[in-house]
Amino acid sequence: NSVTDEVPEPKRKQNRNEETAENVWRPRFGFENAPDTDPSLSANRAWGRAILERSKTTELGIQLLEENQLASTDEVEPLIDSVIEASKAWGAKSGKERADVLRKVAINLGVRRADLLEVMAAEAGKTLDQGDTEVSEAIDFANYYAELAEAVEQVDGATHKPVNLTLVVPPWNFPTAIPTGGVLAALAAGSGVIFKPATNTARTGAVIADILWEAGVPREVVRLIKVSDREAGKQLISSPKVDRLILTGGYETAETFRSWRKDLPLFGETSGKNAIIVTPNADLDLAVKDVVYSAFGHAGQKCSAASTVILVGTVATSKRFRNQLLDAVSSLHVSYPQDVETQMGPIIAPAEGKLLRGLTTLGEGEEWAIKPKQLDDSGKLWSPGVRYGVKPGSEYHLTEYFGPILGVMTADTLEEAIELQNATDYGLTAGLHSLDSDELALWLSKVQAGNLYVNRGITGAIVRRQPFGGWKKSTVGSGTKAGGPNYLVALSDWETKPSQA
Ligand code: ALA
Repeated sequence: NSVTDEVPEPKRKQNRNEETAENVWRPRFGFENAPDTDPSLSANRAWGRAILERSKTTELGIQLLEENQLASTDEVEPLIDSVIEASKAWGAKSGKERADVLRKVAINLGVRRADLLEVMAAEAGKTLDQGDTEVSEAIDFANYYAELAEAVEQVDGATHKPVNLTLVVPPWNFPTAIPTGGVLAALAAGSGVIFKPATNTARTGAVIADILWEAGVPREVVRLIKVSDREAGKQLISSPKVDRLILTGGYETAETFRSWRKDLPLFGETSGKNAIIVTPNADLDLAVKDVVYSAFGHAGQKCSAASTVILVGTVATSKRFRNQLLDAVSSLHVSYPQDVETQMGPIIAPAEGKLLRGLTTLGEGEEWAIKPKQLDDSGKLWSPGVRYGVKPGSEYHLTEYFGPILGVMTADTLEEAIELQNATDYGLTAGLHSLDSDELALWLSKVQAGNLYVNRGITGAIVRRQPFGGWKKSTVGSGTKAGGPNYLVALSDWETKPSQA
């Protein structure tokens, strides 16, 4: 309780303009999930507009990245050795000491929420609401892994031994939450870290590193790098001195990394092709809302996104469901995040390859209920698409697109729908909309995915409540879930304790 005693009780509605290091939100009763910004307060809307205005010309993160280039293979070994050296003092600290630093990180993430939203809007096309939940999630990771840093030293029958070096290689689609989670988990477990943000969102990564250093994480213990020489990147990942590698990215990337080093100790959270089933016993209004948010939040660029909705029995022929779904999708305001009205932002890079095919080409028997349109010359701004008539085993059914497209499939029975849901190579998230407990029991006994959601959207796992990670090709390596109780255990080495007898 020592961290929280002297802090004034937070207001129920957080006015972000009033948040400073002294009164920024922090948990009062052990672990609490951080609240998102409440847009019903006009002060918060003004705060948001100012952030979006700044995002047009922001220079956040640029200089730090310039200073932290990994520009040649000659630099790899000295970098690795310096982190390993610095990690010894960090790993020798008590779990409580490391937890105190992480709790300070949580506070600083709150204080710098606006900076993170500014840089994410600029380089990732993140709308304020999408970026905001990420910052809250990053705060949750900090507070939760602080809790685990203390717990990990008290595992029965084994002595905790921090590893020296964890490499963290996060994706661009959650440029705040996922890198912060990976880096802080490794730090909480006592490891030194080399942090390579995704190329498209490296400036957000630099702001995160700055927040960590400001909170008291030594610069030598977390090294930020921008890899400007591919060979150097490969050499780093292949190095036998890397004790753990936390990767979130495509399945193929994970396999490539493994081909470079066969015994790579990998924590790979990889691809997904996720579906929500809607049965005749669902609350259809709720189902429409959850399907639309899960499919088109951040323009569908989430490994957890709903790419398919499977309609069972009478829902498949329900005009009401179809009309509501299509109305909701076609009413989404699509633009860049700097336009405050935007509900769906751009994709990160001009559509090409698989995604471009998904946005433009139909499979046999499919029809566009809403055809995606390219809205400007950038190739990044696409209106959302909905295709009906997706057939079992078709390219659309089995392929991850990572963009703003939803495919509709139909099934006569729930059993059949579950088979369609399970038929892909992946198993990350899965949803069921039904208010019938027998249907729920059946679904739970058969569905193959890491994160299961009932009568809720299938994105936005909540730290500590819904540890995140998948089955099948959605995971490569350890399979331990982020934001859950075993993560730090798996990121550490262990020695058997001498018997007391
Ligand atoms: N953890 C992210 C989600 O649940 C990927 O949507």
